[in-house]
Amino acid sequence: MKRIYNFSAGPSMLPEAVLQKAADELLNYQGYGLSVMEMSHRSPVYERIITDAERLLREVMQIPDNYKVLFLQGGASTQFSAVPLNLLSGSGKADYILSGQFSTKAYQEAQKYGDVVAVASSKDENFSYVPQVERDAFRKDADYVHICLNNTIYGTKYPYIPDTGDIPLVADLSSCILSEPIDVRKFGLIYAGAQKNMAPAGLTVVIVREDLLGKARKETPTMLDYKVMAENGSMYNTPPCYCIYIAKMVYEWILELGGLEVMRDRNVKKAELLYGYLDSQDYYVAPVRKDCRSMMNVTFVTGDAELDKQFASEASAQGLQNLKGHRSVGGMRASIYNAMPYAGVEKLVAFMKTFAENNPKK
Ligand SMILES: Cc1ncc(COP(=O)(O)O)c(C=O)c1O
Repeated sequence: MKRIYNFSAGPSMLPEAVLQKAADELLNYQGYGLSVMEMSHRSPVYERIITDAERLLREVMQIPDNYKVLFLQGGASTQFSAVPLNLLSGSGKADYILSGQFSTKAYQEAQKYGDVVAVASSKDENFSYVPQVERDAFRKDADYVHICLNNTIYGTKYPYIPDTGDIPLVADLSSCILSEPIDVRKFGLIYAGAQKNMAPAGLTVVIVREDLLGKARKETPTMLDYKVMAENGSMYNTPPCYCIYIAKMVYEWILELGGLEVMRDRNVKKAELLYGYLDSQDYYVAPVRKDCRSMMNVTFVTGDAELDKQFASEASAQGLQNLKGHRSVGGMRASIYNAMPYAGVEKLVAFMKTFAENNPKK
């Protein structure tokens, strides 16, 4: 069976080796006579899976001991409410940087709960860059500062980590987690939907510094209370068992390859190939400011909506699928997450060259 190169922004490609192992173990997990999908989450076999998943993620990301790792449900979007519910309980103030659609949604959700302001925004240029924000822009008594580190839709990434001083920095890492090493200590809380670089949709990972637990507002639903989830080892209720099992194998895959430094080198090579081509010609335009380019989501346009449509459809017929840009931006977007092989990007660049030759602009 021939597999396509799937450039979808999420859910996205998973490592073939992981999918193959999951297939091998589908009916009979390691001789236990049942699938992981059928196991009680309280069984010793499953407990080993979730414990290993946490241990491996800690190893991959070098998560310090004073951080809790939570395996939750509800997608990253649920964290847009969980974050203010858990953290907006001191001064009731939070500062958001708006760098795209998801950070804006997070900001709008948080506004329901307190004095939440946007300290900077790149909306003025259709989010084609990330605002540079200095420490004195934040309110000193803010309960937290929120950013979205990689902006999936626009193809931008922070070229820096904002310095918030003593204010906890909360970051949405949905589309860049595990793509390169990151210093977890710079963050009070990290959250990420798993469906890009980690696992199937249905799992959300939260990494939270212990001193931020136990501050939830009274009205916080139990299911959204980080302290409850931490005290119950992410098993206050039934966790997304199968997604956690796949995530565990993805963490193993990363470690076997050599960890996040190796992952970064692979991702840099892929991104350089694509951006290198984009910079070498003038048929396609990459709208993102160069210093804010994402290594995971690469956006480009021909400047002609009809040609863009034709591009996505012809590429798809050649096994290069899901290249259509997000509906709010148009053009094309190639999501080249960890599991996208270099050969997939080579094939894309070759296709882009041929398409440009065959379809001169009027
Ligand atoms: C950066 C970012 N944040 C949040 C979300 C929303 O995630 P979910 O669909 O898991 O709620 C996405 C989805 O693509 C995303 O890319």
